[in-house]
Amino acid sequence: MTTAQLDHATLVAHDRKQLHPLQHPTSHADPLVVDHAEGVWLYTADGRRVLDGMAGLWNVNIGYGNQELPEVAAAQMRQVAYTSNFAGMTTAPAAELAYRMAGMAHPTLNTTFFASGGSEANDSAFKTARYYWYRLGRKEKYKFIARRGAYHGITVAATAATGIPRYQTMFGPMAPGFSHIPAPNPYRYDGDRRPDETVGQAAARALEEAILREGPETVAGFIAEPIQGVGGVIVPPDDYFPLVRAICDKYDVLLIADEVICGFGRTGMWFGQQQWDLRPDIMAFAKGITSGYLQLGGIQVSDAIREVIDTAPVEDAWMHGYTYSGHATACAVGLKNLEIIERDIVGEIRGRGLLRGVDIVKSKETREADPAKAAAIYNACLARGLRTRNVGNALAFAPPLVINADEVDQIVDILGGVIDSLS
Ligand SMILES: Cc1ncc(COP(=O)(O)O)c(C=O)c1O
Repeated sequence: MTTAQLDHATLVAHDRKQLHPLQHPTSHADPLVVDHAEGVWLYTADGRRVLDGMAGLWNVNIGYGNQELPEVAAAQMRQVAYTSNFAGMTTAPAAELAYRMAGMAHPTLNTTFFASGGSEANDSAFKTARYYWYRLGRKEKYKFIARRGAYHGITVAATAATGIPRYQTMFGPMAPGFSHIPAPNPYRYDGDRRPDETVGQAAARALEEAILREGPETVAGFIAEPIQGVGGVIVPPDDYFPLVRAICDKYDVLLIADEVICGFGRTGMWFGQQQWDLRPDIMAFAKGITSGYLQLGGIQVSDAIREVIDTAPVEDAWMHGYTYSGHATACAVGLKNLEIIERDIVGEIRGRGLLRGVDIVKSKETREADPAKAAAIYNACLARGLRTRNVGNALAFAPPLVINADEVDQIVDILGGVIDSLS
């Protein structure tokens, strides 16, 4: 089976007509040309087989090559592929998916708004938080606190919320109103920590101090990934999120959970926040909702926020939405994808599930990061047919959730072999 009729050199030459995300064109000189894929495996046009330890971009949760989703998409496209979801119109898949998701992440999250991806989802979260405070007569509450190492997306606002300077330096000035505090990294905490504090307590105190520094009357929300992905797969200590929730309540700050990576089974539960029984006021989602088979994302908002939206006068309505909000085909695929995760996958994955990071250090004593060695391990793994990703100080592993024990062993064997050979 091949989709590429072009020889490799011609395809690569044609490919130079597009810009690839986050990539200098010269470092994209010889891309992996993926011809087809099945389960956890990518098959390249030049005949190689690569175990995709990253499920695409943390999103192909049900694995490659599923045949039910294309059937659903084709049927929906024949019936009505897309129509406007703006005022006065809807479609059955959008309505049904919103209904299916009500209460799924938390009993107080019953309202969904659809976008096309994670960046749009987070922009929607920020605008909705500001709208909420504006409607309550507190429009001076417009600021957001995020965490160092956070990745929240690539739009102007999501870039400002992102806590990785490399994404920001060349696009300044950043949108105003965003600031960053340390992430609760138990292995390498970079904030101020008192001798009697746990990392969770110190990182939560950093939030409280930031709110007080900015002025609680100006802070609209705090945004956090339940497990930080691009920042290096940082699993917070168990005491962190309960403290964060209490601080947000104390100062009237909305808590926004960015579930773009953690959602839809990735951590072994439907949503990462459920690992800590967390109740966010707004939840952003994308990626795993369709397992990447089509573009879909969005937010869920609490019943309290919904109430404010419902009771606003019509001339002050929440003026937000995208052409592709509630895209009929994307929603039909999302609905089917949730059915497949529930039917075939949930119940077979455990613990923090299939979201793992391996921190590569120069010395175990000093814990000093070793990006050069991490890059060498990444390249050697790829040469042996295993795709991972360098994030923060870690190598990330987020394979499709359909991975079997033998394939997990293959990841461990390849990674172990590479690390041994480089040590
Ligand atoms: C936690 C998180 N939020 C938001 C985004 C942005 O999503 P998208 O690339 O779909 O805009 C990402 C993408 O990786 C992400 O990891």
